[in-house]
Amino acid sequence: MTPELMEAGARARASYEARLAQTGARRPVALGRGLGLPEPDFAHGVALYLDEITVSFDGFKALTALSLTIDVGELRCIIGPNGAGKTTMMDCITGKTRPDAGKAFFGSTIDLLRLSEPEISQVGIGRKFQKPTVYEQLTVFQNLELALATDRRPRASLFSRLSGEQLDRIGEVLSLIHLRDDAASTAGLLSHGQKQWLEIGMLLAQDPVLLLLDEPVAGMSDEETERTAELFLSLEGKHSLVVVEHDMKFVDQLTEGKRKVTVLHEGRVLAEGLLSQVQANQQVVEVYLGR
Ligand SMILES: Nc1ncnc2c1ncn2[C@@H]1O[C@H](COP(=O)(O)OP(=O)(O)OP(=O)(O)O)[C@@H](O)[C@H]1O
Ligand SMILES: [Mg+2]
Repeated sequence: MTPELMEAGARARASYEARLAQTGARRPVALGRGLGLPEPDFAHGVALYLDEITVSFDGFKALTALSLTIDVGELRCIIGPNGAGKTTMMDCITGKTRPDAGKAFFGSTIDLLRLSEPEISQVGIGRKFQKPTVYEQLTVFQNLELALATDRRPRASLFSRLSGEQLDRIGEVLSLIHLRDDAASTAGLLSHGQKQWLEIGMLLAQDPVLLLLDEPVAGMSDEETERTAELFLSLEGKHSLVVVEHDMKFVDQLTEGKRKVTVLHEGRVLAEGLLSQVQANQQVVEVYLGR
């Protein structure tokens, strides 16, 4: 890590601490404990650090020396044309794809390239795929209950009854995803948008430090999209979120003119800055926005 990165991290950490104090939010717990996994360390304020990640598929480079840093509690949007490497980047973070070269760290101590996919999820990285994958025959509540049961931390066990703490967490998540009134409904009967929220809720039940969301509003109505933006904004500070989207109106709602956007193109970062800045960038217009 470079000195500038550490300084930026320390600044982000300070603002994160201030936000925690303001909102009374919980600090991310040390998730690796008891699993023989290393303890994540977020003291520098950095949640995710990718350094020169390169991925080739049969000689074709899907990622070319991609470097990216996401701060603790940050909400970051990633945009870019089809084939830019956005999903491949998420595949590398979650252990689905192994890069040919580069580094990927979660906090300053966890080398993601040494962990398996389940271990990466256990240390606190949750991922939402594009298609909702909820258990259609079960109720909303049961889906969330199952999400807690797949949490293999010592306090959770498939056969134990839900603890008060777990019930509280499910209640909290039901409110966040606007499904409190639908807790007893069969998940298969929910709208497409509600299923997407339920899946996000299943990730939130496990209290991840970092959430990766690949095109989360695809297929949603305008109203559902707007509510999803509100949900993500409410999670900022408590989790780090990386949101990949093509829907520029949604990206505008999420960034509110003040958060950074990263533009990927041909497997690398083409531009980074406020949405208005990247929209005015001639190269970005040529490869993506101007089409
Ligand atoms: N398993 C694979 N084998 C071969 N090529 C792949 C594989 N996965 C991705 N690619 C290629 O890598 C490039 C990057 O793909 P990726 O899916 O990461 O793009 P993306 O930015 O997510 O695009 P989109 O916006 O369409 O989802 C594409 O050219 C794709 O065809
Ligand atoms: Mg993709």
